[in-house]
Amino acid sequence: MKFFADTADIDAIKDLHDHGMLDGVTTNPSIIKKSGRDIIEVTKEICSITDGPVSAEVTAIDAETMIAEGRKLAQIADNIAVKVPLTWDGLKACKALTDEGTMVNVTLCFSPNQALLAAKAGATFISPFIGRLDDISLDGMELIADIRTVYDNYGYETQILAASIRNVNHMKDCAIVGADVATAPPNVIQAMAKHVLTDKGLDAFLADIKAAEIKIL
Ligand code: E4P
Repeated sequence: MKFFADTADIDAIKDLHDHGMLDGVTTNPSIIKKSGRDIIEVTKEICSITDGPVSAEVTAIDAETMIAEGRKLAQIADNIAVKVPLTWDGLKACKALTDEGTMVNVTLCFSPNQALLAAKAGATFISPFIGRLDDISLDGMELIADIRTVYDNYGYETQILAASIRNVNHMKDCAIVGADVATAPPNVIQAMAKHVLTDKGLDAFLADIKAAEIKIL
């Protein structure tokens, strides 16, 4: 499973990259607002860190303006994936931009039918939101599994980019049900390294290293 960082925090993106944990980056208008930076400028900087897909979201809601914005975003770097909302206009923009050779990430997906439409429109990525479904007592992971089944039934190549990930269990379950990509806040990816028995075992080894004065360098 590929890991995308769901952030515009440059230091966090560099840290994941240096650990071999960065396969791409996703942003959205809320993430850009949080960064306090110009969307073009910060997206360009992110693209200089990773060769993987970097999602940048359009701001318009009509297809023609989305396409124009998408063309501008695609000029930032070769690895831009233009993010469009899963609306009827968004699907039209997806088809047009895909036909021009641009990667498209269709976002705000909450049902298997929406995911089926995105695949037919040629989306490179579909972004189903797990956490926001869980927030309203629905089952976000069931959506990922259902989309996996639908795409496999028909051989669609659109990649399932599990989004709105809030915790390490979401990451584990995405890997089990077969999401192609999980985009998560950097702290969630870091937390995957943690285990209480790892900490306990390391404490015991450190005590023995000290007691036996074991030295390598
Ligand atoms: C990523 O593409 C999505 O915009 C993001 O994962 C949404 O996460 P949130 O529901 O925590 O805002």
